[in-house]
Amino acid sequence: MMNAENMKVTVGVCGGIAAYKAVELVRLLQEAGLDPHVVMTEAAEKFVGPLTFEAISGHRVITGLWGDRAGVGNAEGAAAGVSSVEHVQEAQTTRALVVAPATADTLAKFAHGLAGDFLSTMYLAMHGPVIVAPAMNVVMWEHPATRANVEILRARGVRVVEPGSGYLACGMVGGGRLAEPEEIARVVVEVLREGSLETEVDFAGETVLVTAGGTREAIDPVRFIGNRSSGRMGYAVAEAAKARGARVILVSAVTGLECPSGVEMVPVVSAEEMRAAVMQRLGEATVMVMAAAVSDYRVKGVAAQKIKREKTRVMTLELESTEDILREAATKRRPGTLVVGFAAETEDVLANGRGKLERKGVDAVVVNDVSEAGLGFDSERNSGSFLTRGGEVQFPAMLKREMAGRILDEVKKLRGKGLALSE
Ligand code: CTP
Repeated sequence: MMNAENMKVTVGVCGGIAAYKAVELVRLLQEAGLDPHVVMTEAAEKFVGPLTFEAISGHRVITGLWGDRAGVGNAEGAAAGVSSVEHVQEAQTTRALVVAPATADTLAKFAHGLAGDFLSTMYLAMHGPVIVAPAMNVVMWEHPATRANVEILRARGVRVVEPGSGYLACGMVGGGRLAEPEEIARVVVEVLREGSLETEVDFAGETVLVTAGGTREAIDPVRFIGNRSSGRMGYAVAEAAKARGARVILVSAVTGLECPSGVEMVPVVSAEEMRAAVMQRLGEATVMVMAAAVSDYRVKGVAAQKIKREKTRVMTLELESTEDILREAATKRRPGTLVVGFAAETEDVLANGRGKLERKGVDAVVVNDVSEAGLGFDSERNSGSFLTRGGEVQFPAMLKREMAGRILDEVKKLRGKGLALSE
């Protein structure tokens, strides 16, 4: 299912009751067309024998830093131009490292760069993606030390497959139970796909202007009207465009997200500020992706002081409409600039999306149904369709990062068709 020749992935198994589930994970990765190799920590061997993994993977299992080959890789590897030190060689030749179960000890080692065993040394030598699926007692999982270590790893780009809740081996019920092997395998495949999508620098020479997040319209100095947008979709587009070689300007409303590295961020709060920023930078853009959830109304006559509670039970705020930034930008764009809008809908999704395509005069609209639980607003995942005048491409439910890549793929196709301006 993946095109690249090298199908090798490394499964790191740590010492925990859930170690036996790694056997199923290895099998599922094979089913996905990958070639899993296994590295076990010393503690893991107390739970499952290396022979089990050796039999199922068809490869020698690495069990220690000072193992039978004393940490020295084989001549074949050296000849292929990779390190002859085995943990470095393993890191250089594998496409991804997935650790399942990842114990509190291994997470701490990874987070702090300790390198006392094969797995932790290999982690330090990894260039490719790293995925960890933690499993431990609920109290250990919720301990501030573990939380902090997980956050360090996440911030460093390690993918964490969150443990689920349920009966734990210790007799307690709660979080800390290893995610299902199917879920871990799915994430591995997804991460590898994302990686292969983003390595192409097919956006070199483009300047992509992205709007993201939900605008805030002040009511008084302490209150505002906002919406549930997290900004994740727009940030994912900005990050993906950057990774594909574009210069990226991200006009962002307030979000809890960190600006992707190398992206120029213009922070704004209200719809009017967003409009001003977009109009100011419009001339630089060759592609515009407007993922922000912009307020359609603002409060007329914002109170200068905090509004006090009144005796009356009903309070009325007078609202006035804001400008449609997307429409204005589509009208004023430079010739050759592609404009993509978003439409978050709760009913008649496609018809409303098509309506916006025309009404706003844009080249494409990404529509998504935000009434679906677990998708869209305030979620890591999204689904939807990419609508153009000539067609419709459906995106099944996927991570927003992955969807950002698919959106850029479609933008690229429009560019290829020479479509730059809406007629
Ligand atoms: N948009 C914008 N400026 C606005 C409102 C929306 O630029 N004042 C953009 C959004 O960033 C998005 C697209 O228009 O790309 C569609 O936003 P949406 O809120 O769905 O559209 P509306 O025109 O507000 O339509 P409605 O609220 O009636 O669904």
